[in-house]
Amino acid sequence: MDIASVNALSYEDFVDVLGNVVERCPIVVAAVWSRRPFVTFDDLEAAISEFIDALPLSGKEGILRCHPDLAGRDLRSGTLTQESSDEQAAAGMNALSPGDVDLMARLNAEYKQRFGFPFVVCARMHDKAGILRQLSERCRNGRAAEVARGIEEVKKICRLRLEALVRVNVQGDAAKL
Ligand code: GUN
Repeated sequence: MDIASVNALSYEDFVDVLGNVVERCPIVVAAVWSRRPFVTFDDLEAAISEFIDALPLSGKEGILRCHPDLAGRDLRSGTLTQESSDEQAAAGMNALSPGDVDLMARLNAEYKQRFGFPFVVCARMHDKAGILRQLSERCRNGRAAEVARGIEEVKKICRLRLEALVRVNVQGDAAKL
């Protein structure tokens, strides 16, 4: 779909098509629909980013809390969103050894206990070793730094999900179909 087609969507269709670019947070795109028309793909991405940046701390934490754990309960029960399932599979999270599943569970629990929200990383940009390393390192950060870092990762995930839905040309502008 090109950016002109995105701009032509009703808000119902806009939310149906783009609703999960931020995991389980369709309110984000429901809010930016009124910013149409988007001139380019980057313009759409910037509107999403600005909406997230303008949220109070509790809203940013809420976005993080809508993310499932990597290699966690939702993966085991088959209740991940399609996007999260594909991303976790790309990072090998669906094929961990029992020892690594236990390690991820322990580190995810430690992270959540410390911060009150789950560890979020752009899984498509890392492999298993990188994710485990970041998870242990980031457990040692301060809370404010981790909210900011988690939100940065949400935006990277969002960009990749948007790219899968909306065409971008080499200049960064949306191409015609
Ligand atoms: N990275 C990419 N997708 C996800 C997700 O659904 N959850 C977490 N925690 N990280 C991700």
